[in-house]
Amino acid sequence: MEKLTIRDADVAGKRVFVRVDFNVPLADGKVTDDSRIRAAIPTILTLVHAGARVILASHLGRPNGKVSDSLRLRPVGQRLTELLRRNVPVTGDALGLGTEDALKRMRPGEILLLENLRFHAEEEANDPAFAATLASYADIYVNDAFGSAHRAHASTVGVPKLLPAYAGLLMERELMMLSKLLESPDRPFAAILGGAKVSDKIRVIDHLLTKVDLLILGGGMANTFLLAQGKSIGKSLAEPDRVQDAQRILATAEKNRVRVVLPIDVIVAKEVTRGTEYKTLPAEKIPASWHIVDLGKASQDQVVEALSDVKTVFWNGPLGVFEIPSFAHGTNAVARLLADRAEHGATVVIGGGDIVASITQQGLADKMTHISTGGGASLEFLEGRELPGVTVLLDRPKPPKLASKPKAPSKPKVAAKPAAKPTAAKATAAKAATSKPVAKAVAKPVAKTVAKPAAKAVAKPAAKPTAAKAATSKPTANAAAKPAVKATAAKATTSKPAAKATTSKAPAKTAAKPAVKASPTKPAAKATPRPAAGKATTKPTKPRARTEKPA
Ligand code: 3PG
Ligand code: MG
Repeated sequence: MEKLTIRDADVAGKRVFVRVDFNVPLADGKVTDDSRIRAAIPTILTLVHAGARVILASHLGRPNGKVSDSLRLRPVGQRLTELLRRNVPVTGDALGLGTEDALKRMRPGEILLLENLRFHAEEEANDPAFAATLASYADIYVNDAFGSAHRAHASTVGVPKLLPAYAGLLMERELMMLSKLLESPDRPFAAILGGAKVSDKIRVIDHLLTKVDLLILGGGMANTFLLAQGKSIGKSLAEPDRVQDAQRILATAEKNRVRVVLPIDVIVAKEVTRGTEYKTLPAEKIPASWHIVDLGKASQDQVVEALSDVKTVFWNGPLGVFEIPSFAHGTNAVARLLADRAEHGATVVIGGGDIVASITQQGLADKMTHISTGGGASLEFLEGRELPGVTVLLDRPKPPKLASKPKAPSKPKVAAKPAAKPTAAKATAAKAATSKPVAKAVAKPVAKTVAKPAAKAVAKPAAKPTAAKAATSKPTANAAAKPAVKATAAKATTSKPAAKATTSKAPAKTAAKPAVKASPTKPAAKATPRPAAGKATTKPTKPRARTEKPA
């Protein structure tokens, strides 16, 4: 791993800001899929066991900078409390006096979850003053939110520029699994891509065509390829303006000797609804009034044959309208097949909210090699792009080469290296420069520790691995089942209900007008206004079901 992880950080007694991706689906005020919460548990427990004060921060949905009661993180806090069997209070706001008080009261081994970061427009704008305030809460930053690593937001890019920034264990695992796909997959290597639109996938297909042996296409996006082959697709979902891209992709695949598998027969339906009339037809000439909604049996058999000797698979996107059970057969059959391939030693990596939900529903998730918690992030990674939330983390120092003229080391070996790399150097410089002003600007309790520049933590990476056992296990249920043994000081804050800690209101308007010009050279004191404390907002009014799914 090229990035330093929490194994390399000395977190005992430190306040650790952990960006997690708790953007999970909710219905009736309950989390309906807790995979992303479970996936963060190894990192959380590792930090807790090492005696850190763990400050969790996440977004939920897309509230566009406004407080939305249906997108409060309380249900997530409840689920996390159940999984960890220890109280995880949720603040009423990511900013404000109530939150500062709660932070002040935290003791080593305790956990606090900040309210939805996206209630502040400054989060997505990567506003410097907002980032500085969040950074002032902690001594160390950890990113375990792989699913959000493609976003250059305050909590994914702004804060880690101000603190020593490490990867969490989930982040580490995600990067390891996905890098392996691009760098050294066992062959044959197949990509299975589905979902509605080819336009979302063109870049990843282009990149994967230089990596894979086999490309299996299904779902709505396959229809555009059928069009590209001159077939008629009736009323099916397609993007006619992408036909040329599809033709180019098919030509490149041929040139690169990548076998492309497209549907040969399909289920067509009168309407894309439950209970409608449907039948199987060859994927040649679909009559004008029908919609393609799933793979037919011959297409499924073709996929089975194509994947018979596969050693590595990446799958993103459903292969039919899987939300309607009659049209989920293709998706389900491929899920079962991949579970079987994985059990026979193939590496099977799944990414993307929809398909992960389907596999989880079928109880097959544990059989796969890796279920990515990132949809968009995993695609961007496989497009070969840098993820801003990863780039900003501290680089692992290269092991020192045997120098021809050995000198007595004046500095610790590891300390010299991070600064040598541009990213780390920049990050460290920024930290050193900005940490003081930030400390002044924000509430007293955090001032002392923030004022300490990154240097210390950066200086001794790898010196003291703090990872507990949980670290090496699959980031799922196992870790959750074991409540923290060395629970330190769980009493103090946990017995105080979150309500107390959360008396701040949606930030006052002033918070929305941060000191954009607060530069590292200018103390942010005036610039980082403290949002006014207001009424308690801990009781969400009737949570509504989320309408959007994590992509
Ligand atoms: C996701 O689910 O895709 C991530 O949590 C990021 O959310 P976003 O797509 O709303 O930025
Ligand atoms: Mg998304």
